[in-house]
Amino acid sequence: MIMIEIRGLRKSFGDHVVLDGIDLDVARATIFALLGPNGAGKTTMVQILSTLIGADAGQARVAGHNLAHEPDAVRAAIGVTGQFSAVDNLLTGEENLLLMADLHHLGRSEGRLRAAALLDRFDLVDAARKTPATYSGGMRRRLDLAMTLVGDPRIIFLDEPTTGLDPRSRHTMWQIIRDLVASGVTILLTTQYLEEADQLADRLAVLDRGKLVAQGTPGELKRRIPGGHPDRRQRPVPAGRARPARPRSARGQRSLGSHPRPR
Ligand SMILES: Nc1ncnc2c1ncn2[C@@H]1O[C@H](COP(=O)(O)OP(=O)(O)O)[C@@H](O)[C@H]1O
Ligand SMILES: [Mg+2]
Repeated sequence: MIMIEIRGLRKSFGDHVVLDGIDLDVARATIFALLGPNGAGKTTMVQILSTLIGADAGQARVAGHNLAHEPDAVRAAIGVTGQFSAVDNLLTGEENLLLMADLHHLGRSEGRLRAAALLDRFDLVDAARKTPATYSGGMRRRLDLAMTLVGDPRIIFLDEPTTGLDPRSRHTMWQIIRDLVASGVTILLTTQYLEEADQLADRLAVLDRGKLVAQGTPGELKRRIPGGHPDRRQRPVPAGRARPARPRSARGQRSLGSHPRPR
């Protein structure tokens, strides 16, 4: 079953074309990784799919619901963990979770049960009564994801879930993501790291200059992307190198990162 189906999706900011006709499908209980450097349009894509901003053209179905015509049904099916944390620093970890439970209209006792289970699952029991200001980066991300899971979403958008994390926290997050998929959740994640896409994704695509320039299984793509060479895998995708089979002479100094940025 296809849980996310995107056809011809376009988005521009002014005359800056960010998404230039995107097609992709994500099957149920799989991970699709959208790979691209800073400014590639990953967050824009997540914002469109989670109904936060509108697309200029194209169609998308999320959990079987038309994004444009049934946004409420889409919202009910999804969870989003943004690039910038939704965690409230004035509340404790537990209070953050209880707030989410309230927002999802869970009853008081149900909310407490759900929060306790998530604190346990994400190894945050000792941190439950502390404010996130005292947390490590990995703990913050885990709390952020736990907050997303309060609503029991069938589809989760993870926008750069491990950017800035140390290797150990990254591996913990990877395992959490794998466990989610094993439980039937469908995940679209964005990342700058080919290694992350390689580790997690059933399928991945490279977003470059508004287009998906490559799409396939990690094995298929590693044979085609210059950045897929093993000695590059630890680093973010180099801007301007995401395009497969681009002649060396054409690369020059031009890169995604050097595109003019509005604002
Ligand atoms: N609200 C906005 N108004 C104008 N430009 C924007 C807006 N949001 C994003 N952009 C631009 O769109 C491009 C893609 O941004 P974004 O989706 O955040 O990329 P990524 O998440 O891959 O780093 C960037 O050049 C960014 O400056
Ligand atoms: Mg982003």
